[in-house]
Amino acid sequence: MQENPGKIVPDVPDIVRHPISLGPLPLPSRFFLAPLAGYTSLAFRLAVRGCGGLGLATTDLVNARSLIEGRPRAQELAETTEEDRPLSIQIYGAVIDEMERAARCVEAKGVPAVDINMGCPVRKVVKGGGGSALMCQVDRAVDLVAAVVGAVKVPVTVKMRLGWDDETLSAPELARAFEQVGVAGVIVHGRTRAQGFKGSVNRAGIRAVVEAVDRIPVVANGDIRTIVDAASMFAETGCAAISIGRGALANPFFFRQLDHWARTGNPGPDPSYEERIDLMERHFHGLVSRRGERFGCLQFRKILKWYFHFTRMPRPLYRRLLNLSSPSLFDEVVAIARIEGPDSPPPGHYEVHVPVPSGAIDKW
Ligand SMILES: Cc1cc2nc3c(=O)[nH]c(=O)nc-3n(C[C@H](O)[C@H](O)[C@H](O)COP(=O)(O)O)c2cc1C
Repeated sequence: MQENPGKIVPDVPDIVRHPISLGPLPLPSRFFLAPLAGYTSLAFRLAVRGCGGLGLATTDLVNARSLIEGRPRAQELAETTEEDRPLSIQIYGAVIDEMERAARCVEAKGVPAVDINMGCPVRKVVKGGGGSALMCQVDRAVDLVAAVVGAVKVPVTVKMRLGWDDETLSAPELARAFEQVGVAGVIVHGRTRAQGFKGSVNRAGIRAVVEAVDRIPVVANGDIRTIVDAASMFAETGCAAISIGRGALANPFFFRQLDHWARTGNPGPDPSYEERIDLMERHFHGLVSRRGERFGCLQFRKILKWYFHFTRMPRPLYRRLLNLSSPSLFDEVVAIARIEGPDSPPPGHYEVHVPVPSGAIDKW
């Protein structure tokens, strides 16, 4: 352990110092952005990439059938650009032929990886036999994954939970079988479907998955908010990489800090007020340039409160943005926010106060 201004910084695990790849795809770091439906849009991904340190991002889950039918919502979720790399598009469904064709759509877009959702607990996804429901039917799940792997040349990963409930922890068995049919890696959220987003992450359960496979990277996921959490996740599970969801909403600079820690043993400085405002600006202008002024402003209003907490911009300026209707008003307010500075100076790590969703939106 090293001392860092007022904080204990854990030692960097050896594995973190080495490069990682998913099959043939080299990745710039072992710190991945987990899919968060409703949040991990192209504009958000690009804004987070601008903070640095990100190893791989994944889109929100995309319905396979909607993607092959070219439905606008699926196209929008799968939207990407050359700067949005490395990227994996996450697809879900239970019909093998549709999943194969959806994977081919991903490949045809020039996206370098496909991720299969086998962890989603929400009713809409599970009742069609997709998401975590697949974990209950091992043979069917393996057939589906094998078919998707065979349909494309790009690496395919599977994101899953530990199992349906404590009695059926199928993740180790599935991971081993997926490796044999050619997946390039698995991402494991250390909870069961029955747990939803409650209770704690079962790291021994993730470790069992690591021990079940021979070569492929196992990416550990769940409740990683700090560098201490990251270090202990590597140490306790033996994972090859970590995937961060809600922790990245609380602090989009987390990847930069992790990457700095991996290279130097120290997370580097906390993001300044200016950097936080820059991030907000990139995100807003990303929304406007992709989706138009009206939609961009409406979308931004939904996340404004979050940015208010994250930047600590003065409250009167936040209030001026509540009914945001034009990029010019946004630019005017941001220019003032830069001059006025934060409402209260950031006391080191204040991300803990930034509210993040406790789980996926929907009924389970
Ligand atoms: C709002 C929200 C939306 C999510 N959407 C997805 C999704 O589209 N696909 C998926 O595989 N997991 C999804 N998840 C699960 C996360 O990727 C992740 O596994 C989970 O939040 C645990 O990691 P964390 O504690 O780092 O957030 C979602 C979670 C939340 C909170």
